[in-house]
Amino acid sequence: MTEPVLDVHLTPEDAAVALRAEARAGLTARPKWVSPKWFYDAVGSDLFEEITRLPEYYPTRAEREILVARAAEIAALTDARALVELGSGSSEKTRLLLSALRNHGTLTEFVPLDVSPSALTEAAKAIMADYPGLRVHGVVGDFTEHLGLLPGSPPRVVAFLGGTIGNLIPEERDKFFSSVREVLSTGEWLLLGTDLVKDPEVLVRAYDDAQGVTAEFNRNVLRVMNRELDADFDPDDFAHVALWNAEEEWIEMRLRAVRPVKAHVAALDLDVEFAEGEELRTEVSAKFRREGVERELTAAGFTLHRWWTDSEGRFALSLARAIP
Ligand code: SAH
Ligand code: TRP
Repeated sequence: MTEPVLDVHLTPEDAAVALRAEARAGLTARPKWVSPKWFYDAVGSDLFEEITRLPEYYPTRAEREILVARAAEIAALTDARALVELGSGSSEKTRLLLSALRNHGTLTEFVPLDVSPSALTEAAKAIMADYPGLRVHGVVGDFTEHLGLLPGSPPRVVAFLGGTIGNLIPEERDKFFSSVREVLSTGEWLLLGTDLVKDPEVLVRAYDDAQGVTAEFNRNVLRVMNRELDADFDPDDFAHVALWNAEEEWIEMRLRAVRPVKAHVAALDLDVEFAEGEELRTEVSAKFRREGVERELTAAGFTLHRWWTDSEGRFALSLARAIP
């Protein structure tokens, strides 16, 4: 089989340099924090796939339901020649869009972009095998930095699924939407998946499942630092915490030291101490309302063309169009 074309805008060396800088900043800050993009090494990407199959984690199923219902309509509205997917991961749900665009007769190219080379390579190979004739042009990159370099011929749809937009804080989201708008020509499309504000108990369960898969996923960031930065964190010293911040309307993920912890991060020549109960902030997952999504898209130069939710109103898919 032919290999997928892969552009690497983020080499393992670039990632290592960025991880060092961010780990030093985050581990010496108060409160301590670590950037969520380091969750997704090969183990983390597999754990995330496991999360998507958990009974408590409804977003993947809800978004899939919308895509099943609307993919043909999306194809007819956009006439897309290229589908670009940011934070593509396994690109499982994306197959619904690829199939609809193929049936519609316009699609020639698929451009998945992800920080995780393992997830990207696997997904690109599987899609090449199942969509013969489709050009698959993968990009290893950071969607907060490398959008200017995206291949693909217009009209394009940029898909950003899974509610990953919620992992950015509001300032980062503004910047992100503006840079997506900048790389698109007027008339091109953004397809955005957003999880919606709902009963906090349902939300917290989605990020703190009974089997503890999400806890393992969260603690994986410690294993990444152990391996990449020659640190000596014991993941068992930390408990997974997921809480609803009602003011910000986001879920916060943290790792709480269950006893006093002293760790050494050899690659940074840094000693790190946690008091018992002290927390390391790992990720937020913001939840949205229609007005907020529309406001943010409009501010960046898009118009909200369609808004669809699943039958239970848990998750939304927005089709937005770049305007002059
Ligand atoms: N789109 C898939 C996966 C969502 S998980 C779905 O809907 O199921 C989030 C994905 O975004 C992971 O594959 C992760 O590796 C990727 N990711 C996280 N931060 C990123 C960043 N800054 N740049 C590019 N990809 C990123
Ligand atoms: N984009 C996913 C979300 O916000 C990522 C995610 C799911 C996640 N579960 C997690 C991130 C647990 C950190 C910890 O739903």
